[in-house]
Amino acid sequence: MHKVEVNIDLLIPKTMTKLAPKERYPPQWQNTTARKQHNVGRRVVCGLIALGSVLFLSYRQPLQLFPGSSGRPWESIELHKEAGFQWRQISPSPELEYHDCFDGFQCARLEVPMDHRHTDGKGRKMAVAVARLPAKVPVTDPRYGGAILINPGGPGGSGVAQLLISGRNLQTIADADADPASEFDGSLSDLPKYYDIIGFDPRGVNNTTPGFTCFPDTFSRRNWELQAEAEGMLGSGPGSLIRNWQRSMALAESCSQVIATSINGEEALGEHVNTPQVTADMLEIVERHGQWRERQGKAAQAAQDMQHGYDNSQAFVERTRWNKGKEKLLYWGRSYGTVLGATFAALYPDRVERVVLDGVVDLDAYYLTSSPSVLADSDAIFERFAEYCHTVGSEGCPFHHPGGPDAIKKAYRELLSRIYDEPFAVPASLSHGPEVITWTDVKVLTRIAMYQPLIVFPLFAEFLAELKQGNGTNFVGFKQGSREPSCLSDECLLAGPWSRECSVPGGNENYATAAILCTDAENLGNVDRQGFKDYWESLKATSETLGDYWAHARLDCVGWKAKAKWKFTGPFGANTSYPLLWIGNTLDPVTPLRSAQKMSLKFPGSVVLQQDSEGHTTLAAPSFCVAKAVRTYFQTGELPAPGTVCQADLKPLIGASPSSVLYAANLTPGDRALYAAIEDEVRSFRTAGPFRPL
Ligand SMILES: *[C@@H]1O[C@H](CO)[C@@H](O)[C@H](O)[C@H]1NC(C)=O
Ligand SMILES: *[C@@H]1O[C@H](CO)[C@@H](O)[C@H](O)[C@H]1NC(C)=O
Ligand SMILES: *[C@@H]1O[C@H](CO)[C@@H](O)[C@H](O)[C@H]1NC(C)=O
Repeated sequence: MHKVEVNIDLLIPKTMTKLAPKERYPPQWQNTTARKQHNVGRRVVCGLIALGSVLFLSYRQPLQLFPGSSGRPWESIELHKEAGFQWRQISPSPELEYHDCFDGFQCARLEVPMDHRHTDGKGRKMAVAVARLPAKVPVTDPRYGGAILINPGGPGGSGVAQLLISGRNLQTIADADADPASEFDGSLSDLPKYYDIIGFDPRGVNNTTPGFTCFPDTFSRRNWELQAEAEGMLGSGPGSLIRNWQRSMALAESCSQVIATSINGEEALGEHVNTPQVTADMLEIVERHGQWRERQGKAAQAAQDMQHGYDNSQAFVERTRWNKGKEKLLYWGRSYGTVLGATFAALYPDRVERVVLDGVVDLDAYYLTSSPSVLADSDAIFERFAEYCHTVGSEGCPFHHPGGPDAIKKAYRELLSRIYDEPFAVPASLSHGPEVITWTDVKVLTRIAMYQPLIVFPLFAEFLAELKQGNGTNFVGFKQGSREPSCLSDECLLAGPWSRECSVPGGNENYATAAILCTDAENLGNVDRQGFKDYWESLKATSETLGDYWAHARLDCVGWKAKAKWKFTGPFGANTSYPLLWIGNTLDPVTPLRSAQKMSLKFPGSVVLQQDSEGHTTLAAPSFCVAKAVRTYFQTGELPAPGTVCQADLKPLIGASPSSVLYAANLTPGDRALYAAIEDEVRSFRTAGPFRPL
């Protein structure tokens, strides 16, 4: 097979960087914020799958609660071919045995039972991929705070990938401000703390094994996904339901059927990837971390004693002792990661030390599919777009229309309706092949804009304005720029379809989403076409902006065959050994603030912190105030006062408000480093594409 080369630069619309809101920063911040410039190779060889958007200048796991598959403008993709390190070089073990991996990380494969209710040590095993960013102090240091587990959402998002990309930022936020190298002269009770950050791939996801695949090879998968794009999503035309329904049936037969089938009476993977099993994996990681810490402590003590003579206090050993069966969880989850965290807290309430849940999913709605109100605030974000666009005028918002916000909304609806009837033809150019821009494409862009207003409103306005004027060049860049090459490796060609050589870890991300979601929320599969249509209608009635998308994202479940063996039916609350911290945006398209408030009532003592911004999770906008609150919670355990509202430091289209921390005169270098970390998080968050479910 000959190699095809793709020139990355051609795929990125020039305006994407032009309109990034950084230009609206106060001048003193222009050069101080740490924006990581990834060294994107100019050329990508087919087969390496290395395509990325330069928009965010770094590459990040989606936080995607509810993400999508094809047309992922800013999602994806294998950036760094794992130089040297391969997960399969590590043998799975029942204890945490770390090996150096990537750049300054450590990796382990933790063996766990496939079915945690199997306590007799029999049955199939899984190997959970665990990656650790070491704390800035050794575990024997009194300032060592423990390990914070993280999850990026999805479901189906890779915690390992999140760690590689975000781990250092998250550590900066949770860690004490003080330089760990400096002498500490305060009292023991307010020791600064430094944390390990641990990312792990949940079951069915990326590097955790056994994995699964729904396609014989990448080529077949990419074709399937391109067809999804071409068919259009729910609402794209009169036949959209039946066409997509049948696709869902075809996928389920070949995918869920396989992983739901037990061989020789053994556990079937598809029945054990749901959230309760993953919380048991987390508990196992937490316990094994305690064991690992103790091992480290003993080794350090032995070395110390050898050098300086026996230390009667055995301080290292004391400090690192494994509280067997009693180790507690430190956790920070976003979006679907809040389902994981809250489920853990409900199942193991006495194992909670610190839990931050950001972009809160209502567990009733998630597990029982009880209410369409998850979209309650999504249209309000669209309203904000119209308002902000009106406020900044045509200079800052190319889709501005005289006549106020209503005129802007009207123009959007007209454009959408026109393109519904008549997709927009864009001839080939030097930079791209021929393309058609459809209603689905505009809806997808809209969806992404609602998740990430700060970053995407400017592009949204620009693309819409151009489209209205009959120019689809940049839009095509957006649409095509996310497509991955799908050439097969030589190994795959040799081994043939469905071989291990043809299955790429992480390639099944969208289908991992279905595997988890559809077995968590069994109701989603228990509907006929009419029932689904009613569900879709109710979502549309709640949200003009996202109703079709949300329904579409759940369509994978209608034919899903696997059912979970260990179901979690509640209660979705508990008295936890330490109160949880919930965080919600004033307006979040899919995890409305009200879900956080509702969940908080079920966990006595927990507090909701409100970030006054639009978008999905606190990654929607940097908020120094929220970052400080999270740090305080990890450092001292102190929760924000109930009712606390934090401002965001940047507003979509508008930029920094005068009250923003960006204008504060007295920021310390530590404050700036903290702000740089959250800003980098926000900027490099790549939101997911069109059709991925919750
Ligand atoms: C469309 O917009 C692009 C980018 O702004 C520009 O380079 C191009 O000339 C425009 N094409 C037409 C036909 O106006
Ligand atoms: C899977 O994990 C690897 C690290 O082993 C990471 O580089 C890659 O981005 C992850 N893939 C996905 C789809 O998250
Ligand atoms: C928490 O404990 C209180 C007091 O014992 C009890 O009344 C309440 O029902 C418990 N709440 C939950 C969610 O378990």
